[in-house]
Amino acid sequence: MRELTVLGIETSCDETAAAVVRGRAPGPGTILSNIVFSQLDAHRPYGGVVPEIAARAHVERLDGIVEEALAEAGTALKDLDVIAATAGPGLIGGVMVGLTTAKALALAAGKPFVGVNHLEAHALTARLCQGCAFPFLLLLISGGHCQLLGVEGVGRFRRYGTTIDDAVGEAFDKTAKLLGLPYPGGPNIEKCALDGDPRRFVLPRPMRGRPGADFSFSGLKTAVRQIVREENPDAADVAASFQAAVVDVLNDRASAAMDMFTRDFPSTEFSGSGPDGPGPDFVLAGGVASNGAIRSALTALGNAKGFKTKIPPPGLCTDNAAMVAWAGVERGQLGLFDGLGMSPKARWPLAAP
Ligand code: KG4
Ligand code: ZN
Repeated sequence: MRELTVLGIETSCDETAAAVVRGRAPGPGTILSNIVFSQLDAHRPYGGVVPEIAARAHVERLDGIVEEALAEAGTALKDLDVIAATAGPGLIGGVMVGLTTAKALALAAGKPFVGVNHLEAHALTARLCQGCAFPFLLLLISGGHCQLLGVEGVGRFRRYGTTIDDAVGEAFDKTAKLLGLPYPGGPNIEKCALDGDPRRFVLPRPMRGRPGADFSFSGLKTAVRQIVREENPDAADVAASFQAAVVDVLNDRASAAMDMFTRDFPSTEFSGSGPDGPGPDFVLAGGVASNGAIRSALTALGNAKGFKTKIPPPGLCTDNAAMVAWAGVERGQLGLFDGLGMSPKARWPLAAP
């Protein structure tokens, strides 16, 4: 299959981003440019993302960021094979900005258009970065999602587990708020935890050992709230104890999903050779996968269970447009284009339960 050069646009939350990526499946691809403007400063006073402010900031910034991405890549619109943008799920006002911009560019330049599922973009990022073959096991951990999926191909997902309440990123963000740490919570919990004692507080490990591979995080958050209310504790000790509990839960649930995946796809199918050795890939994706403690614990788990753990670099775990452009490469190669009438979607699950 021939290489495709794709412009990707991402505006589904609080990053305004555009990137140009070139490549072919199964990767790795080449990131020619990757511009991310984080709206953190605009949202920080509110302690979270304000949808209306996000949408306005996307409108103000996106044109310039697309221009910058094309210039840095040394690519003109006419050189592109595909124009791709996140079409959901996400904050609908923001999604509309990116989607409409991409459609207008596609129409003006006479290029095919792909409306990308933001979760599929996260899911395929390890193929962009390291290259990995289908099927693989995916742990998708972000601000709005916490899922274990078998990824059989583009648009083909098998769900092993999902959260029955909060997403793991949400748990990080809410715990940070309880501890008075600034927004965004995840990275600040990680930093704070470095100075703390992870054994200082005994926190619950929800769902650990249960059949299946579902998650729950609301009990953990409630336990933190109680400690903060009753003990006026050292924030670093709470952050470290919380992060240790999350690591334990992710490990246990991922381990269960590995067993399910191995039943579905026996290891004889993965006879790979070379430095990688045999065995299926275990991929992490989403903003929470930029957490160092989680990265090292799950890499060790993968090794112990005969999986090859592949995690994109931290900057490609959090929201970016290179992953959207890459999803455009994968879909473009399969001829999976979308019409300019495509609607933005606030909700767009990857797999039915
Ligand atoms: O994938 P992402 O950038 O946006 C969504 O699609 O949701 O993920 C954002 C989430 C936030 O909840 C943020 O607190 C969390 O990822 N996060 C982290 C870290 N960096 C970002 N959580 C834990 N440790 C981190 N280093
Ligand atoms: Zn995301």
